[in-house]
Amino acid sequence: MEPRRRDQSADRLTPTRAETGRAIVIEPWLKQSASRAASAREADMRTPQARLEEAVGLARAIDLNVVEQGLVTLGEIRPATYIGKGKVDEFAGLVKSLEVSVVIMDCPVSPVQQRNLEKAWGAKVIDRTGLILEIFGRRARTREGALQVELAHLNYQKTRLVRAWTHLERQRGGFGFLGGPGETQIEADRRVIGERIARIEEELEKVKRTRALHRESRKRVPYPIVALVGYTNAGKSTLFNRMTQATVLSADMLFATLDPTLRAVDLPHGSRVILSDTVGFISDLPTTLVAAFRATLEEVIEADVILHVRDMSHEDAAAQSRDVEAVLGELGIEPTDKRLIEVWNKIDRLDADGRARAANLAERQPAERRPVLVSALGGEGIDALTKAIERRLGEGRLTLSLSLDPADGAGLSWLYRHAEVLTRDLGDDGRLAVTVRADAANADIVRRKYAAI
Ligand code: GTP
Repeated sequence: MEPRRRDQSADRLTPTRAETGRAIVIEPWLKQSASRAASAREADMRTPQARLEEAVGLARAIDLNVVEQGLVTLGEIRPATYIGKGKVDEFAGLVKSLEVSVVIMDCPVSPVQQRNLEKAWGAKVIDRTGLILEIFGRRARTREGALQVELAHLNYQKTRLVRAWTHLERQRGGFGFLGGPGETQIEADRRVIGERIARIEEELEKVKRTRALHRESRKRVPYPIVALVGYTNAGKSTLFNRMTQATVLSADMLFATLDPTLRAVDLPHGSRVILSDTVGFISDLPTTLVAAFRATLEEVIEADVILHVRDMSHEDAAAQSRDVEAVLGELGIEPTDKRLIEVWNKIDRLDADGRARAANLAERQPAERRPVLVSALGGEGIDALTKAIERRLGEGRLTLSLSLDPADGAGLSWLYRHAEVLTRDLGDDGRLAVTVRADAANADIVRRKYAAI
């Protein structure tokens, strides 16, 4: 049986290359954080410059033409405009002279601040959450992904409506015709959004149930799953392509993927695995998006091997890695998890010294946690990686043969749930001969239950 395949061209929303506007990206940086900036390197925190670069990358991912970018150091956040008046005026001049239509503020901007800034600049203002929602919306490739993003969007809008109401005590927004007598506009808006949220949640439940069924049937396919995780732009799609020779979108932009992409791959020693590409991780994911993001990672929890792809040429490699580990930790996957293999990617971008240092560092790790150095782009190290995957797969799993009564439905269903059923034949003796592959713990239970060999 073939594993579930998805037609890339059919359900991927191809990002349009048409420019969506000329933009300025602003990275506000609070003074108290600025005083810590000097020690940011040692503390593995992102430098303001690196945060700005990331925001610019995100803006480019939605096809904005970034014509100006800047750090703004603040003593305090101004309730009306977030940044100080002098800076607002300075950027107003830039917006005009550079004919900018969008200003990205890489911070949470309240609806009041957004309105004031839009008025002062005569340009659209998008905050970090808005920007990431835009990217998620464009990259959603499955029904579930699209629903999750819409849900996150509505929840975001809902809180902004509440805030608009409490701050401004005035009515704003559309959907006017739906309000009952005496209802304020804001209440009507909230009701419409609430109803839409309820509908989406219902639909999501249905989609999830279908997906669970798909997963169940895939479990019957005796192929282990190898999941790729990693910070956005680490090179997951490139590695995925290199390993499958498939052509999935891999562009130099952030978030080239949202929903997992699956492909079957034959490893050199003959074992077939299903490779699963996942959404790219990002720092400071807005809380409204955390649930949507995590749901897309469900496959990782059940994976047999997890490849943590890292861009070793990135100056923030350590901080990125910590972000990824934090999210994995929340999924119950600790750094010591036996299924994890760190893939140190982009070694072609390191100079001789950098390479030697990385190789040295890798060598010093215990064998079971030794990272594999690769260049997904050039192909270097890929053989070593596939070998490491095969080794890791072989370590934990045992193949057992057993025989059971065909009428033992409960026993059979237990096997399907806890092991991979490789073969199943009814013998002349009327018994069912079954071979299964299971991890050490379940193999033990199988042995005790069925006296398997
Ligand atoms: P998201 O989908 O955003 O999470 O990104 P990703 O992790 O899938 O990264 P992707 O494969 O799209 O690669 C990002 C960029 O890094 C692309 O421009 C790749 O060409 C480049 N890249 C990936 N691997 C390598 C590598 O080994 N060496 C070099 N030099 N560049 C690489």
